Amino acid sequence: MSIEIAASAGFCFGVKRAVDTATKLTSTHPRQRNYTLGKLIHNAHVVSRLEAGGVKVLTEEELFPIAQTATAESPVTILIRAHGTLREIMEQLTAMARENPALTILDCTCPFVKKIHRIVEENTNPKTTLIVSGDPAHPEVKGIVSYSKGKTVVIPSVDSAVFNELLCKIDKNDCIFVSQTTQKLAEWNKCKLFFKNYCTNPIFFDTICSATANRQQEAEELSKKVDLLVVIGGKDSSNTKALYTVAKNNRANSVLIEDASELCPDQIRAARQIGITAGASTPGDIIEEVKKSMSEIIESFEAMLEGSLKTLNTGDIVKGVITSISSTEVHVDLSANVTGVIPAEELAGSEFNVGDEIEAFVVRVSDIEGVAGLSRKRIERIGDWKKIVEAAESGEILEGKVTEVIKGGVMLAIGAVKVFVPASQTGVPKDGDMKALVGTTQKCTIMEIAEGRNRAVASIKTVLRKERKEAIAKFWETLEVGQVFTGAVKSLTSYGAFVDLGGVDGMVHITELSWSRLKNPAEVVSVGDTLTVFVKGFDAEKKRISLGYKTDATNPWTIFTNTYSVGDVASVKIVNLTPFGAFAEIVPEVDGLIHISQLSDKRVGAPAEVVSVGDVVDAKIIGIDDEKKKVSLSIRALSEVAADDADAE
Ligand code: F3S
Repeated sequence: MSIEIAASAGFCFGVKRAVDTATKLTSTHPRQRNYTLGKLIHNAHVVSRLEAGGVKVLTEEELFPIAQTATAESPVTILIRAHGTLREIMEQLTAMARENPALTILDCTCPFVKKIHRIVEENTNPKTTLIVSGDPAHPEVKGIVSYSKGKTVVIPSVDSAVFNELLCKIDKNDCIFVSQTTQKLAEWNKCKLFFKNYCTNPIFFDTICSATANRQQEAEELSKKVDLLVVIGGKDSSNTKALYTVAKNNRANSVLIEDASELCPDQIRAARQIGITAGASTPGDIIEEVKKSMSEIIESFEAMLEGSLKTLNTGDIVKGVITSISSTEVHVDLSANVTGVIPAEELAGSEFNVGDEIEAFVVRVSDIEGVAGLSRKRIERIGDWKKIVEAAESGEILEGKVTEVIKGGVMLAIGAVKVFVPASQTGVPKDGDMKALVGTTQKCTIMEIAEGRNRAVASIKTVLRKERKEAIAKFWETLEVGQVFTGAVKSLTSYGAFVDLGGVDGMVHITELSWSRLKNPAEVVSVGDTLTVFVKGFDAEKKRISLGYKTDATNPWTIFTNTYSVGDVASVKIVNLTPFGAFAEIVPEVDGLIHISQLSDKRVGAPAEVVSVGDVVDAKIIGIDDEKKKVSLSIRALSEVAADDADAE
């Protein structure tokens, strides 16, 4: 930020002369009655300073009554300000002072104003129209008008609403033109242009004071260079207002202030280049004070900025806010003197949005380009590597995804870091295929790290072993008699079958495999068969479990008794003949005896006369001995029923 002060800012020659004279009065005649006719200049600070020094302001009404009170004991000094005053007043005061030595008139009318008085006096007559370009209410203009010997018209602006009305009062043939010393140059030029065509032989006197013209010229040039133009001066000062108008026309960001207290800090902070100009009645110390205040605002702002702006270095980890996301780059506001840029592909698939805070690793910094290259992946890698280092110490189990099979093992991605798992630690058997692991998520422990090289060796097998151990411990803890398992037959022996119950084997004794007598378990099961078994008993210390396989539901006697009752007729198969009868199978594993006497309603010498092994015949169940598990059948009973039925018919 920079501040430039216009070279001509501050008191003009005429104002300086008047202020110096008044100030001198306060020191040379402090006890004398000192006055100024009207405010010495349009600057409240200067006027109040003079008042404090004993120089009072008189109105025109108060002027003569005061002037008449001047005596040797109580002399009076009246100072005429730089604007000058009315010709009549000046003449009357001069005459009074000539007659009364106790009255002193200090005429501080600016020589440039006096020059206009002379021009008007010398170039007007009763037929002449004096046209003044200026403010009709301004004391200087009133003074100028008072020197005219003819008609006078004051034109504030050729663009004003009253211009046409004023035009009617002008005699086109005998006109002279002057301007107020502080008139805007552009306005005076417009006025000349118009009346050159309107009047016959108009006479123009360029009476804008050179100090005013220079000041306006500088304000115009300065306003084109800066972001903010500050015009300092009294708000009722016409030359200050003219400067402000010039500034406004060129630079919208212009302000008019009377002193430093009116500065707007936000406006100062927002500007990169600030210009200062000041009206002709603005004291130098006010300008200096404004500049000092501005510098203080800027310095504290720059100090605050410097404090808040971080200096970045490669390798730093920074936090910032995402300001934009494009297909190639993500921009991050780091509250630093550079903008952070993350390659878009690093955030592909992530849920970051504009406005989110993000942490990133500084890859490179270019103050010239104003850019810091950032990496999100590196941050993730640092975080993941930290986790790996900690896990190597603590033995914590981490999770990763197997990405590829390489020579001697597989690579496992733990977040953004890949670790090596030797083949012997993959948990895959020696002749197994490690490719089956690719794409799977595996738990592992860290066996070794080479911190300087960010390399680590992991083991999946240790976790599998640990998990198996824990599962077995839990198995024994929760094992109960009667608990049902479904498992595969792992091996057979002559006395039973071993079944895998999930890492622990149990044995089904040969007698438990079937309700019928077996010579070898292989008669009913094979290795690999899946059996549903139940725990009959176990010894947790010796790690032995005896299993049952046959259940009541599969008991042939139960099946028989659930199906048949005494009196029922069953279709039976003759399985054996004896001298006392024939044995017949009712349901698998349950046979009944058809006593020889029950084979027929006729006398039978031997069972073979009636039935043969393999015959399927209907027989009536005539007796069930539940205790001895014996069934008595009868074919004869059916013949008797048939005979009875025939008799009945
Ligand atoms: Fe005089 Fe010009 Fe100043 S007329 S009072 S020197 S602005």
